[in-house]
Amino acid sequence: MLNDLPKPTIFAHRGDSAHAPENTLASFKLALAEGADAIELDAKLSADGEIVVIHDPTVDRTTNGHGRVSQMNLSDLRSLDAGSFFSEKFRGEKIPLLSEVFETVGRNIFINVELTNYSTPRDQLTEKVCALVKKHALEKSVIFSSFFASNLTKAARLLPEVPRGLLAMNGLLGVWARSFGFSFGDYAALHPYLTDVNPQQVQRVHRLKRRIHVWTVDNPDDIARLHSWGVDGIFTDDPKLALQKVGRQA
Ligand code: G3P
Ligand code: MG
Repeated sequence: MLNDLPKPTIFAHRGDSAHAPENTLASFKLALAEGADAIELDAKLSADGEIVVIHDPTVDRTTNGHGRVSQMNLSDLRSLDAGSFFSEKFRGEKIPLLSEVFETVGRNIFINVELTNYSTPRDQLTEKVCALVKKHALEKSVIFSSFFASNLTKAARLLPEVPRGLLAMNGLLGVWARSFGFSFGDYAALHPYLTDVNPQQVQRVHRLKRRIHVWTVDNPDDIARLHSWGVDGIFTDDPKLALQKVGRQA
């Protein structure tokens, strides 16, 4: 359960993406082995409606292919190498299906599923992810997040027992989400960008009896400062470093 996690909860952002290719089974397994409390991943749909885990709307940066994820079938996506952009050592890693991630680490670690249909907002991503969480009976070890409040409203209707975190864009673009959008919405947590957080913001969220999970924090001084302000969670590319910094690992 979200509230049973250690404070601050260390979320491995796209897995241990400092030491393995982001959003792959290798990066999620590594995060688990290193003692991260949770992983964060980016879910979106392939052209044939399968839930895959990849951050960008295109495959260009993180694979040896080209094209938009939403226009490629699962078989095309699965033929790509999602490891060697990071290092030769990871050649052969695939873009995972969300179901594979659930099967591989779902019983062992808490999972932040970010609903990232930002370029295809009318698709069935939220419905399909909710059905999959239900199928795997992972309601107690998942939180949904999204920059699109509409995804989270839909998830609240379909699977109310899974908590929701509202992502806020950094700077001016995220003002509404960090204030009225969050306060008047049904969210367990606010997910603001690192430079938008201050002690008053942390206190305001806590007065609402909710949590604040901050992204993406890789600098050791930032980790220590946020910890001293009492944030409830930190998304980091380097979970091992973060665990050390908050005094949970030598
Ligand atoms: O959930 C925190 C973070 O992942 C949001 O931004 O672009 O890395 O998905 P992004
Ligand atoms: Mg993300």
